[in-house]
Amino acid sequence: MIMKTFLLITVFSLITLHQSSLSQTTTFSVSSPSGIHTVEFALKDQVPFYTVRRHDTELIAWSRMGFELQGEEDLSEDFRIASHSQSEFDETWTQLWGEKKHIRNNYNELALELEETGKKERRLKIIFRAYDDGIGFRYEFPEQPNLREFKILDELTEFNLTGNHTTWWIGAYQWNRFEYLTEETDLAVVDTVHTPFTMRTTDGLYMSIHEAALVDYSTMTLEKTDGYSLKANLMPWHDGIRVHAKAPSVTPWRTIQIADKPGDLITSYLILNLNDPNKIEDTSWIEPAKYVGIWWEMHLDKSTWGPGPNHGATTENTKRYIDFAAEHGFDHVLVEGWNVGWDENWFESGAVFSFTEPMEDFDLEGMAQYALDNGVRLMGHHENSATIEHYEAQVEDGFRLYHDLGIRAVKTGYVGHGQEIFWTDEDGNKNFEWHHGQHMVRHHQYIVELAAEYNIMLNVHEGVKDTGLRRTWPNLMTREVARGQEYNAWGDDGGNPPNHVLYLPFTRNMAGPFDYTPGIVDLLFEDYRPDNRVNHTLAKELALYVVIYSPLHMAADLPENYEKHPVPLRFIKDVPVDWYDTRVLNADIGKLVTIVRKDRNSRDWYLGSITDEQPRDFTVSLDFLDEGINYIAEIYRDTEDAHWDTHPYGYERVEMEVTNHDELRIMLAPGGGQAIRFRAEN
Ligand code: NOJ
Repeated sequence: MIMKTFLLITVFSLITLHQSSLSQTTTFSVSSPSGIHTVEFALKDQVPFYTVRRHDTELIAWSRMGFELQGEEDLSEDFRIASHSQSEFDETWTQLWGEKKHIRNNYNELALELEETGKKERRLKIIFRAYDDGIGFRYEFPEQPNLREFKILDELTEFNLTGNHTTWWIGAYQWNRFEYLTEETDLAVVDTVHTPFTMRTTDGLYMSIHEAALVDYSTMTLEKTDGYSLKANLMPWHDGIRVHAKAPSVTPWRTIQIADKPGDLITSYLILNLNDPNKIEDTSWIEPAKYVGIWWEMHLDKSTWGPGPNHGATTENTKRYIDFAAEHGFDHVLVEGWNVGWDENWFESGAVFSFTEPMEDFDLEGMAQYALDNGVRLMGHHENSATIEHYEAQVEDGFRLYHDLGIRAVKTGYVGHGQEIFWTDEDGNKNFEWHHGQHMVRHHQYIVELAAEYNIMLNVHEGVKDTGLRRTWPNLMTREVARGQEYNAWGDDGGNPPNHVLYLPFTRNMAGPFDYTPGIVDLLFEDYRPDNRVNHTLAKELALYVVIYSPLHMAADLPENYEKHPVPLRFIKDVPVDWYDTRVLNADIGKLVTIVRKDRNSRDWYLGSITDEQPRDFTVSLDFLDEGINYIAEIYRDTEDAHWDTHPYGYERVEMEVTNHDELRIMLAPGGGQAIRFRAEN
């Protein structure tokens, strides 16, 4: 039963006055529904500033707001308050798919309209929303005669933090985009970083700065200015302009999620709440799913993307994967290397690709039909190497073709020139853009809307970071935009260390779903790449299906490896990808996390627990299980002698009867994990 209430109360009287050191300052404030978080806004000498506190703890000291513009006066000072209002909002909405079915969106809002005191009287609105799990704010450029089309040279938004917090981050402006291991450092040594930027404050609180609803704007990175101060650093166009804007328009929300415990960051839905509701009317074709595919074998060098004696995407091999998927109940079969272009230097330029012509040894139509006949669908693949002009010229034909063949999901890929995207302007000049600037944000928006027209779900690799747009466009299922499983196959730094996935729930996954591609059961792949391996235990690999959320999860290993490992395959088949609820039982960033999720379509619960190189031994209460139900806990756990380095295959499957009155002892090996299905018996 969906509870829906909507309250909009406008109050014009909540103004507090206080003296600032500079001049008399009018301060406006808004607190979250429980009163825990408060944002204050003030014009100090006619310059906009805000501050944030949790109870009496100042988390963001007075921080500047505004914009530097090109070719006209900045929109940053000489303001007066033209109007202000407060409102309350409380609604519970239903997520089409996700980590939680019903999400409460409950906030108090403060809206301020600023107007320049000078001749031009340009206006800028600032909207603050105070939630019990954090703060969001955005700028609005209202329609007005003296601000039409304009160029933002800099967004002046600051986040002036109040201590030398412990922080978790990846650097921005790096050649390999978002594909880095997480750094853990003091705030003092941070330079320019991507978001979500997560931290533990010197007071022991947890915070994560990110953005929501990134549309027709440039990705925000955070630059450390001085002391503990951060400033928005928008990824620029080739000419240094950060954003080409026009009024009326809005910026993305700047978000600050705040919690006492790190696990509460994971269950904060603030980013989704700040996005617009679903815009797709008929959503019957959007379905969370699990997939297998011709993928890992290329990363292992068992086969090739390009044509030749070891070509992976042949008709025969595809048939083998379809048969495997049909036998084991997987929904899609991804086929990479299916189309013309892979024999060229595609890493250099995606202009070699055709998105409609299959290679000679791959019968696209026949395989799409064979899949449908077997209750499976092919998953399409559009690697475009970030040559987006070429891609945009063909993508509609590509989507149409897939749609006509009954294909409902497409993985897109933007590898190639690190962060650089090349394009040619009207004068024939070749320009380069950052992978995450406004140019690419626009491109990705175009692709998601076009995909929706063709009833296609997207799985985007090397795209722009997630900002919760899946709420508005629920066909935008999942993304990579981080360092995934593939690094274990070929990473020349030894792959992902045991603690890599221990950071992701608190950093990358705070933005949204991640196509990490778990499910490797042949952890050492000695036949193919003996110098590489997966750096954790088999039970931990299974736990990733619960810990890392994605509505499209891959069973990434080769069919022949699953045939050899039927027991872990059983868990991979059972685990859902769409949840009714999610809870975090324990969490220590980079070290330990235990997450339980309830299946959306049954009364079953699932648990995933993972650790870094340290063994763990703890007890959890099973009070999250439904009252009055007897469960069989199907436990996939590390054996006593399991160890990520010396004995990664040490696991056992045991069953026990449990109810919500029980406790469960969980022991994790070094680099280990545990995965449990709580199967409802009555
Ligand atoms: C990089 C992607 O992350 C990977 O999944 C894909 O197989 C290759 N590009 C080729 O498209």
